[in-house]
Amino acid sequence: MSDVIVVGVDGSKPGFRAVAWAADDAFRLHVPLRSVCVVETWPYQVPQIAGPEWEESLITNARKTLAEAEEIVRERQPTVEVSAELMTGTPAAALRAQASDATELVVGSRGLGGFAGAVLGSVSMNVAGQVPGPVVVVKAETATVHGEIVVGLDGSPACEPAMAYAFRQAELRGSRLRAVYAWSLPFALAAGFSCDFEALREANQHVAEEQLAPWRERCPQVKVIVDVRRAHPVETLAAAGDRADLLVVGSHGRSAVGSIVLGSVSRGVLHHARCNIAVVRAHETPTPA
Ligand SMILES: Nc1ncnc2c1ncn2[C@@H]1O[C@H](COP(=O)(O)OP(=O)(O)OP(=O)(O)O)[C@@H](O)[C@H]1O
Ligand SMILES: [Mg+2]
Repeated sequence: MSDVIVVGVDGSKPGFRAVAWAADDAFRLHVPLRSVCVVETWPYQVPQIAGPEWEESLITNARKTLAEAEEIVRERQPTVEVSAELMTGTPAAALRAQASDATELVVGSRGLGGFAGAVLGSVSMNVAGQVPGPVVVVKAETATVHGEIVVGLDGSPACEPAMAYAFRQAELRGSRLRAVYAWSLPFALAAGFSCDFEALREANQHVAEEQLAPWRERCPQVKVIVDVRRAHPVETLAAAGDRADLLVVGSHGRSAVGSIVLGSVSRGVLHHARCNIAVVRAHETPTPA
C-alpha cells in the first residue's frame, strides 16, 4: 500500500471541498496528497460533435482545476506534500486505478454533471466500496466541528475494517466515538409472533459490546458511546451523522451475500445522510456466483 491520499477533482465546488477535507486528513495522517483530474475525452473525439480544439480546452481546464486544488492545499495545510495527476479516460475507472493501493480515496458527493436534485453523482457511487482502502464522500457544506465520529456496526466481521478506521479517526482527532447498532425483529416475529423483547434487546446490546471490546482495549483514550436501538439502520445512522464530523460504515454487513457491490445500509447512508461518509471495504467482499 502506498502512503498517499488520492482526491478526485473535476472543477466543481464539491470536488474542491473534497480537496480541503483530504488536505486535513493528509495532515492528520502525515501522508502526501495526490489530486487527480480525469478528462473524459471520448465524446469530443467524434468529428461530428467537436473538433480537436475541444480536447485541448478540456486539458487546459483540467490543468487549471489541478492548480486550484494545489492552491487550496497550500493555503490550508502548507506542510502537506501535494502532487497532481492529469488523466484521460473514464473518471470512476481512472480514480479506482489511482486508488488501488492508496491510503484512501476522497471525492465530493456531487460534481459538475448530474441533475439538479441528485444527492450523489455516479462517480462517487461508483468508487464507494470498490477500492481496497476507505472511500470518503465529502457531503457536508459547512465546516462545523462536532467532536464526534459515528460508526455503524452489526456484529459481523465485515465491519471490522470500518471499526479500525473509525477508532483511528477518533484517536487522531481527539473525538468521541458513537458506535451505533440498529437492530430489527426477524420478519416472522414482526408479523405477529410473540417474543421476549427484553431478552432480545439485551442480546443485541451484547453483540455490540462484544464487537467493541477489543477496540476499546486497543484505543483506551477514545471515549465510546454505545448506541444500540431497535430502529432502521439507515435512518438511525443518518440522524447520528447530523451531529458528527464523519460517519463510518463498512461496504458490507451481516447479509453480505445479498449485495455484491455495496450493502443496503452503506448504499442507503450514501444517499440519505447529510454528513461526510467513509465507506470502508470489508476484507472479504462477496463475489458473483
Ligand atoms: N473527471 C473527474 N476527475 C476527477 N474526479 C472526478 C471527476 N468527476 C467526478 N470526480 C469526483 O467525484 C465527485 C462526484 O462527482 P460525480 O461525477 O459523481 O457527480 P456529478 O457530476 O454531479 O454527477 P454525474 O457525473 O454522475 O452526472 C466529484 O466531486 C469529484 O471529487
Ligand atoms: Mg460528474
